Amino acid sequence: MYANGKVALVTGAAQGIGRAMVEELLSKGAALAMVDQNRIAGEQCKASLDEQFGSNRTLFIQCDVTDQEQLRDAFQKTMEHFGRLDILVNNAGVNNEKDWEKTIEVNLISVIRGTYIGLELMNKKNGGQGGVIINISSLAGLIPAAYQPVYSASKHGVIGFTRSIALHSGIWPSFSTSLI
Ligand SMILES: NC(=O)c1ccc[n+]([C@@H]2O[C@H](COP(=O)([O-])OP(=O)(O)OC[C@H]3O[C@@H](n4cnc5c(N)ncnc54)[C@H](O)[C@@H]3O)[C@@H](O)[C@H]2O)c1
Repeated sequence: MYANGKVALVTGAAQGIGRAMVEELLSKGAALAMVDQNRIAGEQCKASLDEQFGSNRTLFIQCDVTDQEQLRDAFQKTMEHFGRLDILVNNAGVNNEKDWEKTIEVNLISVIRGTYIGLELMNKKNGGQGGVIINISSLAGLIPAAYQPVYSASKHGVIGFTRSIALHSGIWPSFSTSLI
């Protein structure tokens, strides 16, 4: 993906796959907001990336993506700080079959909500410049996972939603959705 000069927002950015995507986007020349509920991990991650890429390239925002107000606020802060949004990665995810409602909230509802907020901000009709939205699913979103029925359902949902919303890309010029 061409990312030089672009601004991204990555959820679940403090560790794991989210952090790896942050590093990749930074190495390609993007600036970005790292959104995560874990303040300690987020601040540590930012501090180490600042040494490598400079402190003005990232903004850490503590946010629980399941909290509507916090999620909207995270997008707002990103716009205020960087002035634009080009790339959105809805990555934050959990795998908890006991607290299964939470798993659906984080993995599916927040991805849908984040996608709609991203579409609103990137829409050229609203002053945006188009962009890319990447929603992170899983192999468990393509095939059944015997001991993870709710995780699997949430990730199947991400694929169904992302494929369906991408069919609207003609409505939003220069907008595309990707699924990983
Ligand atoms: N690791 C794998 O093997 C694998 C495989 C397929 C898909 N995935 C998916 O990739 C994504 C990232 O996985 P990972 O392995 O890097 O996970 P991880 O647990 O290492 O990191 C997830 C990050 O998301 C954050 N997070 C969790 N709930 C949050 C919330 N409510 N609000 C804000 N931040 C929250 C955590 O604090 C953490 O920093 C997930 O969506 C996961 O389902 C992972």
